[in-house]
Amino acid sequence: MPENILIAIAWPYANAEIHVGNITGSHLPGDIIARYHRLKGDHVLMVSGTDSHGTPVTIAADKEGVPVESVYKKYHQGFLEVFQQAGITYDLFTTTHTQNHFKVSQSIFLALKKNGFLFTKVEPQWYSPTAHKFLPDRFVEGTCYICGYTEARSDQCDRCGNVLESAKLINPRSKVDGSTPELRDTEHFYIDLSKLEPVVKQFLRERSDHMRDTVLGESLGKIEAEGLKPRPITRDLDWGIPVPVEGWEGKCLYVWFEAVIGYLSAAIEWSHLAGGEWKDWWVNPAARQYYFIGKDNIFFHTSLWPAQLMGVGDQFVEIFSGEKDVKLTLPYDVPANQFMNLEGQKISGSRHWAVWGKDFLSRYDPDALRYYLTVNMPENKDSDWDWNEFVALNNNQLVATWGNLANRMLSFCYKNWDGHLPEIDPASLRPVDLDLLAAIEAGFNSVGSELDAVHIRAALAECMRLSTEVNRYIDLNAPWTTIKTDRNAATLTVFTALKAIDSLKILIAPILPFTSEKLHQILGYENHLFGEQFVEHTVDSLGDHTVLRYNPPGADVETVQWKPSALKPGQPINQPFPLFKKLDESIVNFERERLGSK
Ligand code: MF3
Ligand code: ZN
Repeated sequence: MPENILIAIAWPYANAEIHVGNITGSHLPGDIIARYHRLKGDHVLMVSGTDSHGTPVTIAADKEGVPVESVYKKYHQGFLEVFQQAGITYDLFTTTHTQNHFKVSQSIFLALKKNGFLFTKVEPQWYSPTAHKFLPDRFVEGTCYICGYTEARSDQCDRCGNVLESAKLINPRSKVDGSTPELRDTEHFYIDLSKLEPVVKQFLRERSDHMRDTVLGESLGKIEAEGLKPRPITRDLDWGIPVPVEGWEGKCLYVWFEAVIGYLSAAIEWSHLAGGEWKDWWVNPAARQYYFIGKDNIFFHTSLWPAQLMGVGDQFVEIFSGEKDVKLTLPYDVPANQFMNLEGQKISGSRHWAVWGKDFLSRYDPDALRYYLTVNMPENKDSDWDWNEFVALNNNQLVATWGNLANRMLSFCYKNWDGHLPEIDPASLRPVDLDLLAAIEAGFNSVGSELDAVHIRAALAECMRLSTEVNRYIDLNAPWTTIKTDRNAATLTVFTALKAIDSLKILIAPILPFTSEKLHQILGYENHLFGEQFVEHTVDSLGDHTVLRYNPPGADVETVQWKPSALKPGQPINQPFPLFKKLDESIVNFERERLGSK
């Protein structure tokens, strides 16, 4: 039975380009799991979008002296390009600045309000008389009232490490223009997470058999130690989603409160665009939702978002579309990754210490990127991008173990069997051939169960182990020699090896989709493993939007491709060409010199 799988990936802020750490942290693992389930014939919906609101985006706009709208659109456009080039196959990559997202977010807010999980509170906050606006805590600096440090942020002191009560800061000054802010009362909505704490804990306990320990520690562990406290969910801002309550003009929903709602609103937008049914993934207890995020986002996805979903109960659907007694599906897993560093240092855009996705892909192939980022995926601990290692692994593993295997067998076959697979009688296969095919066939279970558990590095390691077995089989049976003395033996070896390679092509396809697709064509198939990504323009009352979409392969493709090779003896194949490029050692220095300079 096909399953409904929602692949939900953290929405990147519209204030910086995508770098390799972002790709390996969330977009790539999400894409690999999505592609795996598509090959299995499951119904996959993979969504995300640009996180367009929030202070970081408005600050970027102020700095560049341009309207916020143009800043978020500029970065959004860049995201679409990287994802297309890297093969991150979003069914929909949209933005939070759409009418649909506004409506869905406001409905969630109203449902929580109706169910009694929101309250309001008036508190003093720093207001800038020069800028005529309230300043977010991190834009006010001053002297720490505990240790006297003069450069403390209003919400925390970097010298004594204490969390500060913002209003007690001594000699406050605005980080925007250095002027002195004043305290003014302002009213905000809070979500009462303490009321929802019991259901959040239960939600996490029910998932503790499959959630990563790192994730459980940051969520359940923290809640057990400290509890959940009410959190403000509105802000004094004019860029964002208006609070849908009379008298609250000029205030917006807190960016994290509404951004997580994007996973739901994007599914609804996708339904409108593609004609599908969002409820298959959102009102369906059997649907499995996976959230791919970085470790800094754990609280929002394991605590706040489930609390919002459980807090709305059946009221969201009732407010949104009038249907009664319908509850939203809860996350199944949140396989958060740790961080990737770069040459031993933290990735930093402002210091130009980064490998940017678009820049990288202008010089190298997407599967070379996906290979290295999978080997080095920070699944359980921080990892490091090292240019020397990138070149070494590309040449010694990707090219040597997998690329050359496919290429030399295909070329040998193409040349000696006149562009066809050898004609053999399957009944004549020798034990050594059958053993190899059985070993590779077992890979559909072993690789599949690693991917089911979102152990992506282990899945790749298993694929590489199987490639090594095929290499060993070929070395042992040396068809280049036997072709001169025992053509029948060579025939059996070549057929068996290509059948194994054909299966490996599927096992590794979620990780290396571009080259697996090419290999599929060389092997003579006329259909495709994966569908096409394309850009679409839409318009609503908030303006025009460009989104990225994915079309599954045509109706001629069998839905289930995650199964052992069915290559037929005598089938024609196409002229082989190398799938991967060996990289020159000199790029290590070339790339290292680019780091840290603009
Ligand atoms: N924009 C946030 C970040 O880059 C992630 C938001 S994920 C969402 O850290 F689901 F809340 F959108
Ligand atoms: Zn201090």
